[in-house]
Amino acid sequence: MNDLLLKSRNKQRQQRLRHEVSRLYLSLTDLIPMDTESTFFENPPQTVAVGQPLSRVDGRAKVTGAAKYSAEYNHLPGMVHAVIKTSDVAKGRVTGFDLSAAQREPGVLAILTHQNLPKPALTAETKEGKEAIGYSVQMTFMPLQSDQIFYAGQPVAIVVADTLEHAQQAAAKLRVSIAAEAPIASYQDTKAPRYNPGGKPDADAEGTKRRGKAAEAFAAAPAQVTATYSHATNHHSPMEPSATIAHWEAADRLTVYDATQGVSWQQRALSAILGLPQDQVRVITKYLGGGFGCKGPIWPHSVLTALTAKAVGRPVKLVLTRPQMFTSVGHREDQEQTLRLGATKQGKLLALLHEKTSTTSPWDDYAETNSKFMGMLYQCPNFEATTKLVKGNVMTPTWMRAPGEAPGSFALESSMDDLAYQLGLDPVQIRLVNHADKDPATGQPWSSKSLKQCYQRGAELFGWSKRNPKNGLTRDGKYLVGWGMATATYPVNDSQGNARVRLFADGHAVVQVAATDLGTGTYTVITQVAADCLGIAPDKVRFELGDSALPTTNISGGSMGAGTFASSVYTAAQDLWQKLTKMAVTDAKSPLFRAKPAEVEVVKGRLQLKANPAKGEDFAALMKRGSLTDLEGFGQGKYGAGYEAAQSGAPAPAKPDDAGKESGHAMYSFGAHFCEVRVDPELGTVRITKWVSVVAGGRILNPKTARSQVLGGATMGIGAALMEQTVRDPNLARYTNASLADYHVPVNADIPDMTVEFIDEHDPYINALGVKGIGEIAIVGTAAAVGNAIFHATGRRLRSLPMTPDKVLEAMRQPV
Ligand code: MOS
Repeated sequence: MNDLLLKSRNKQRQQRLRHEVSRLYLSLTDLIPMDTESTFFENPPQTVAVGQPLSRVDGRAKVTGAAKYSAEYNHLPGMVHAVIKTSDVAKGRVTGFDLSAAQREPGVLAILTHQNLPKPALTAETKEGKEAIGYSVQMTFMPLQSDQIFYAGQPVAIVVADTLEHAQQAAAKLRVSIAAEAPIASYQDTKAPRYNPGGKPDADAEGTKRRGKAAEAFAAAPAQVTATYSHATNHHSPMEPSATIAHWEAADRLTVYDATQGVSWQQRALSAILGLPQDQVRVITKYLGGGFGCKGPIWPHSVLTALTAKAVGRPVKLVLTRPQMFTSVGHREDQEQTLRLGATKQGKLLALLHEKTSTTSPWDDYAETNSKFMGMLYQCPNFEATTKLVKGNVMTPTWMRAPGEAPGSFALESSMDDLAYQLGLDPVQIRLVNHADKDPATGQPWSSKSLKQCYQRGAELFGWSKRNPKNGLTRDGKYLVGWGMATATYPVNDSQGNARVRLFADGHAVVQVAATDLGTGTYTVITQVAADCLGIAPDKVRFELGDSALPTTNISGGSMGAGTFASSVYTAAQDLWQKLTKMAVTDAKSPLFRAKPAEVEVVKGRLQLKANPAKGEDFAALMKRGSLTDLEGFGQGKYGAGYEAAQSGAPAPAKPDDAGKESGHAMYSFGAHFCEVRVDPELGTVRITKWVSVVAGGRILNPKTARSQVLGGATMGIGAALMEQTVRDPNLARYTNASLADYHVPVNADIPDMTVEFIDEHDPYINALGVKGIGEIAIVGTAAAVGNAIFHATGRRLRSLPMTPDKVLEAMRQPV
């Protein structure tokens, strides 16, 4: 019922719904000051906490060390330690184990291999298994089920000992014989067939997408740009390594402390894999030290820890080592994109042809969906995108911050820059010429779009009007100085989840959602939302998350967290106010006795007559009179493009990323980045010396945490642009730099002071708050902005990420 409340902008339908609801029940929509022009959250007295730069409510716990991360639950009686032994060989077969030396090590309790590890009830290798496990399974293969080796880093044994050191020592002494075969390292191996995954019923990747006649339109276009781009394998590299503690409290009851972006997803997956009723698996993740996508899906180590704990009959802790983080939790796939743009002499796009080839695993067709981004960013009548895959001896890649949009934007936004130079247009101008006034992919209107304001404000903050239109002309001493810009966008994915609010007569509240906070501020922003929904101060709210025993919700991923959790807390609060209103109008001692519920509004926790606000009472007075110490509300919140369809009873979209299909509106965040670089032409080094990001992401719940999200996203994009790459040996298919010493992520010295601004944007379609989500958008376009600045500085176009000094020097040797 509360779904009806969250959003309905269609006046007629809202009136009809209101009518039906009031006949059946209470007139819910009248309980709150919501009309067709403004939502509850736009009513000024109510948005007290939302929009404030509140400091993190979990900040003190973090800096004092009180915040417990998944590997820090050391209280469990008899807990022992597991260490995974992995294969150095990328393809082959285990031919034998020599356990004797390892078994002689002190403290060793068990050595588990495919021969003696308990079997899971099901795996994702079957269609039924995959369905039961749900979205969270990215890699369908489960290691330690047979002697076959498919990738370097694949677990071949698990050693359990009383201490971590004993387990490590024994694992080092364990000998595993493997008969090696020649692996396929990547799509660059010409022996490996390239295939189009389209048409396969279970493919995780798209095949070919088309509109119009792209090849013909390209051939006839007066201006053309053709270029091929490559993107290195990237690893998420969160500060906190993945960790699992599995504790079987009974033969059929499991509690898992797991570093995951979604405890509800993990609960569902683990219960399916282990063959337990869902409520008999509890997953707890109170704090997370970053995820970026690699803690979204369920990975084998979590399952293996649970099976190991079952085998040894003790709680087991497993923490992945940093090298294992490169072979256990997915990665952004290495990929190549060929892009052809055809345009008029005025720069108007006529054709866009995109072909992507990437490396995937032996079992799965996973690929980032760059084509979605390619097909929606600019108005272009003729479009064709094809995905091709090569099966390499590598684990299944996975979502990494803006999967598809991040690498896709490097290709498209670099080629748009080329087109601008070719036609003598300013880079901002060519983007305005191609601005899509509605979604080119679906023809739907945007729910809101403030991209032009992002360009304008970004250019203003950066001083773009002073740009020299010619490249290679600006010097600062020995440095070549260049300016570049690029567009950013990210979809509002479809999502839903539940929440419970418990309001106490003494004026405080406990709010519960099985959400996770990746470290980005979920604790804080949902505390703010709950405070406003309940009409109390944020310090009177305790927001509990990170436990699958709490109301089920979606993962913190796909930039959906803030929107989903806020929607559900809002709905739960409405449920509560509805109950309290019913109490008030039937309580002879209440000033609201015998009022119609529709005549009552709630303002800052006070129930009062709309027509006569002086007549009313505080929730506390009402509750105390009714001998209630507290009262609960429960709600299901929906968020995103499928929302209206779900509201009217139509089935929800089949997949979370089917945004835009059902609501009649295309929902996206937009933004723009502006970058200045100084290139050392002798050393090939590139230094970012100025940065501006402007983002329109709907309502900003907290400008402080939101700014940090954009700083982090752009910094990660600069990493991909200039330094991040995991190198797979072409012969051995083994990573050569699986450590934070060799896999370079940006540090403070690499990043200048950045300017971040948000466009004030009110989106009436997303959810009750108009929150679009900003977790991913800032990485999108960042690499292109850097590359475009390098082009402006040097006259050389770099099309291979990362743009390391060797590539810059190589480019400098080429004629302009
Ligand atoms: Mo994000 S890549 O959906 O965690």
